[in-house]
Amino acid sequence: MEEKSKKDLPIGVFDSGVGGLTVVREIMRQIPKERIVYFGDTARVPYGSKSKETVTRYSEQIVRFLETQQVKAIVIACNTASAYALEEIEKQVKIPMLGVVKPGAKTAAEVTVNGKIGVIATEGTIQSKIYGKYIEQLKKEAQVIGKACPLFVPLVEEGLLEDPVTDEIAQRYLSVLIDSGIDTLILGCTHYPLIRRTIQKVMGDQVRLVNPAYETALELKRLLDQQNLLQDEKPVLGTNQYQFFVSDGADKFQHFANTIFKYGVLAVKQINIEEY
Ligand code: DGL
Repeated sequence: MEEKSKKDLPIGVFDSGVGGLTVVREIMRQIPKERIVYFGDTARVPYGSKSKETVTRYSEQIVRFLETQQVKAIVIACNTASAYALEEIEKQVKIPMLGVVKPGAKTAAEVTVNGKIGVIATEGTIQSKIYGKYIEQLKKEAQVIGKACPLFVPLVEEGLLEDPVTDEIAQRYLSVLIDSGIDTLILGCTHYPLIRRTIQKVMGDQVRLVNPAYETALELKRLLDQQNLLQDEKPVLGTNQYQFFVSDGADKFQHFANTIFKYGVLAVKQINIEEY
């Protein structure tokens, strides 16, 4: 395929559910000419409590689906899948791929002043200790304190973004981090930026929250540019710039997506991901 048409191909982005939309939002902001195909595995969410083998198998199926959509690059917009499956899948595909963990670790290592960094994420991501590994490579003396917050994902999926129940759960999960003296907190699950306000309120203004989505979009832009794949023209009017696929509950997903994006998400398609 000649360079021009390769640039026209979409970027594939996936997550276990709606969380990855926080990464899509950032990609839209930073590289607005790009086309995006998003897949949310709403039938099998959450990934955070599942084994490495299961998350890797799910991720492989999704990558095969995205390949049928002729994507030019893939972003794993899920920390759990980035932690468990990125390394394995990178060996299997020829197109550029990136996850959200490395970019998030990089930002945190850069912004911390006292070297004490907190990570909140799913059980899987915390158990993998992956943030600590990457941060240590960049800042040897840093101290990384992880805390799994498994109830945050269902609260977000239920749309309880600002709610007394979410406040109460956040208080319980985060108290140990407040006491630890961290100055930086990584939102190590792509669902969490959606309850960012609650998290900031509980942690206090002295703690800087890091949303890995920002650096991920920047890294994606660099990667596409390096490979001469960056789209330089706006998509032709009438072409579907953004496409959304899910494995269940298309209507619910569409409603949710429309609370996140300024532009209207008009269609969400359901597919059977087990076929891939
Ligand atoms: N949003 C995902 C993450 O970043 C996982 C949520 C889940 O499925 O448990 O880890």
